[in-house]
Amino acid sequence: MSDPERHPFLHGLSKHRGAPPTVVVIFGASGDLTARKLVPAIYNLALDGLLPADFYLIGFGRKPIPDAEFQQVAADAVREFSRRELQDDVWSRLAPRTLYVSGGYDEAAAFQQLAERIEGIEKEIGQEMQTLFYISTPPSVFAPISENLGASGLARRHVGRPQQSKVIIEKPFGKDLASAQALNRTIASVFAESQVFRIDHYLGKETVQDLLVQRFANAIFEPLWNRNFVDHVQITVAEEVGVGTRAGYYEGSGALRDMIQNHTMQLLALTAMEPPVSLDAESIRNEKVKLLQAIQPLRLEAAAGDVARAQYAEGLLGGNPVAGYMQEDGVDAKSSTETFAALRLNINNWRWHGVPFYLRSGKRMARRVTEIAIRFKRAPGNIFAESERIQLAANTLAFQIQPDEGMSLILNAKIPGLETRTQPVKMNFKYATTFGSNTPEAYERLVLDAMIGDSTLFIRGDETERSWQLVTPILEHWRTQGRTGLDTYSAGSWGPKSADALLDANGHSWREP
Ligand code: BG6
Repeated sequence: MSDPERHPFLHGLSKHRGAPPTVVVIFGASGDLTARKLVPAIYNLALDGLLPADFYLIGFGRKPIPDAEFQQVAADAVREFSRRELQDDVWSRLAPRTLYVSGGYDEAAAFQQLAERIEGIEKEIGQEMQTLFYISTPPSVFAPISENLGASGLARRHVGRPQQSKVIIEKPFGKDLASAQALNRTIASVFAESQVFRIDHYLGKETVQDLLVQRFANAIFEPLWNRNFVDHVQITVAEEVGVGTRAGYYEGSGALRDMIQNHTMQLLALTAMEPPVSLDAESIRNEKVKLLQAIQPLRLEAAAGDVARAQYAEGLLGGNPVAGYMQEDGVDAKSSTETFAALRLNINNWRWHGVPFYLRSGKRMARRVTEIAIRFKRAPGNIFAESERIQLAANTLAFQIQPDEGMSLILNAKIPGLETRTQPVKMNFKYATTFGSNTPEAYERLVLDAMIGDSTLFIRGDETERSWQLVTPILEHWRTQGRTGLDTYSAGSWGPKSADALLDANGHSWREP
């Protein structure tokens, strides 16, 4: 490795920042994500002085509204959703550079208008601008948008230079393997892979990136990180929220597509992949793909299979009664959409052969928590007890991704006193205590990375296809089964019995995070 800047063992995760002059164009400008995440992210980047000096934001949407109204909507979004308050001096610089273009996503003329607006900006400031297209629309219009970006020439602006156009694509990236492949083909007919940034916002979370640092900047873990010392791994992505007002989307999705295929698989890949030779995008993504390729096909049969699915029934959350999924607005009376999914995976490589990886994700669970728990093998025997049958607790290293970001290690310790008795104790590291709690939002990091052209924290085309290849047979199986085999769990619980059974079979049980 001749370039020390890119070598993780020398320089950690630090990167040089500095994007060329940029126009960010958001397709789906009136959508929820734009208000809740994208505009606040851009504002916070401005507040930190991380936007290029020449920066413009163009909202693109069907509704015809003047620039001034979009500026107002954007300011309101910052006031409501930004992690830091709107400061007038920062906003007064950004507002006049916040513009709006209206038109249909399949209307060639609207894309011409967009191109003219961007050229107008370039003339005004006398510089070539990079254009970063952010596709944050329902997936049904991903293809027409990308085709029109191609046909209008917008996709090929300033090719081969730092200012070359880039595109960020929001999830859901397809709904199964075939649709993800089709979408990749459409995109590839317009953009080179280096211009494409498929987003998984979990990769923008601080603690997910910290996982790389913990694994590859601390020498003590690597010798233990394998089948000789690890008993099993549990990855939990639990949410308290229910389907809320999103039944229209969620009914066609379910937990496997919405959370497992993308976010949870990414956590798994980063936890289990081999050390990358450097921190650059291809090195990391190659390792993730290799890991995903080593996952064995899952057994789908009802008894002794590797999968469980369930819907939440009514229950209590924080002491308050909440409705079951079937009673939620917009849910079909015969819905077989799973709000919880759990998988038992085997990774067939030298490092992990024989170590089960358990993944689960659900809505309306007891608590919002995302964690990765590495359960180590127990100490052999127990010289501290009268009988060897009294087992010592196993050591567990847990990464809390959210909300209480940190890391903990369970160890056995002596209970003070004249007898020698042991008790598991927990060593805790909390992000908030050490570093304060005002960490950047995932979207800030990801928008900035896309602007500077760093795709390390984005999903490569083959990566998304491999992940769909793993889950598509499960989706097809569940479709043929309808509601047969669909378990339930009380809202406010840790999930259904069928998910416990996945672990019972190996003498394991889910930990309560
Ligand atoms: C989204 C899913 O990708 O992630 C939502 O579509 C889910 O259903 C959300 O609620 C969870 O994200 P976070 O960052 O709140 O954990």
